[in-house]
Amino acid sequence: MWGGRFAEGPAAVMREINASIPFDKRLWQQDIAGSRAHVAMLGAQGIVSPADAAAIAQGLNDVAAEYEANGVAENLALEDIHMATEARLAELIGPTAGRLHTARSRNDQVATDFRLWVRDAVDQVDLGLAAFQRALVGRADEHAASVMPGFTHLQVAQPVTLGHHLMAYYEMVRRDRSRFAAARGRLNECPLGSAALAGTGFPIDRFATAEALGFDRPTANSLDAVSDRDFALDYLMAAAQAALHLSRLAEEIIIWASQPYGFVRLPDAYSTGSSIMPQKRNPDAAELVRGHSGRITGCLMALMMTMKGLPLAYSKDMQNDKPPVFEAHDLLALSIAAMTGMIETIAFVPERMRAAAEAGFSTATDLADWLVREGGIPFREAHHITGAAVKRAEADGIALAALSDAALNTIDPRLDGRVRAALTVDASVASRQSHGGTAPARVRGAIAEAKQQLGLA
Ligand code: ARG
Repeated sequence: MWGGRFAEGPAAVMREINASIPFDKRLWQQDIAGSRAHVAMLGAQGIVSPADAAAIAQGLNDVAAEYEANGVAENLALEDIHMATEARLAELIGPTAGRLHTARSRNDQVATDFRLWVRDAVDQVDLGLAAFQRALVGRADEHAASVMPGFTHLQVAQPVTLGHHLMAYYEMVRRDRSRFAAARGRLNECPLGSAALAGTGFPIDRFATAEALGFDRPTANSLDAVSDRDFALDYLMAAAQAALHLSRLAEEIIIWASQPYGFVRLPDAYSTGSSIMPQKRNPDAAELVRGHSGRITGCLMALMMTMKGLPLAYSKDMQNDKPPVFEAHDLLALSIAAMTGMIETIAFVPERMRAAAEAGFSTATDLADWLVREGGIPFREAHHITGAAVKRAEADGIALAALSDAALNTIDPRLDGRVRAALTVDASVASRQSHGGTAPARVRGAIAEAKQQLGLA
């Protein structure tokens, strides 16, 4: 491509370090789409003749058909998908192919291709996350009133419902989807026509190519357009955050599936056995989702480190933008699908959850609240009295609700047997009616709203 200036070909190692075709062939559809839009515009503007534009468009269709049928060959000598396509086009239609690159550079070309690819990736992730939300809402609906322990510090804190717990993840995913949507909104400007870095002297119509490719508008500054990879970073930030949420749920599934908890039984389809211990049922899928989130965050770091300190405009370092985005995307898509499948099929064990919620004096706060409500006692003092009650129950090896009237009276004369009704886990969750609280009625309200957001209601 640059034989005019160079006497010798590249060293073998230069060829190898320089080539991006092994990974950027994944952009072939976007590359063809960009070229189609570009040549149609060149024809419409009279920059190439209508006959040449038509020949190039037809040739691009043929190249695309070949890629579709046989995949893209990895010829390192052709360096990248842009040169591979142009070279094949030249084989098919002859020297007219050379007119395609008028008023264009690989710098604006790759920036355009990659934006198109990331835009598709965002749309694909959004579909996956919506399916994941539907799974969460479906299981939350089933378990809107199933009591489980709520934890802080992984210590039993207060009873909550499983539906409420699952809906917490629904909220995280709702924010994830809005982050991807925001990333999509920002990325949807077309770099094509920025050329190498300074724009072009040809009378191009950037609005036409932007529109043809589904962009909202052309980018405003050619230097920025060819050197900006914020859109890829936006995608990776949203991906890292979404993966982080999946990882937290994965960790909970791993804990819940362990024998001391026994809150869930993993479906066969999402667990593995051990080659040596026949009793084992391992949560490998959840562990890999947890592990993948680390790798996805690593991809984000890789691209941030690549971009920091790069002077304007394009530098070849930027060719390294694609592998981390591709890797993160593949890992995220797999993680979302695995998590959706697990949530759809996992067997919850409500009896075990309830038993755990009943242990650990989880309704101690309800006792304190009762003293505040019934006795008009300031909360701090009620907290102190409740501490004494817990101490006594612990010493006697019984639950709070099992303390006798006499024992209650000794702890504080303002305590009596009526408090017991407030100390069951069901009474505890039912009382938490505050907006966003765990009362089954509230949880059902949240589920109804979620169904509306998902278009299910
Ligand atoms: N393969 C290159 C990349 O992905 C295309 C752009 C090459 N531009 C250049 N000035 N060498 O970044």
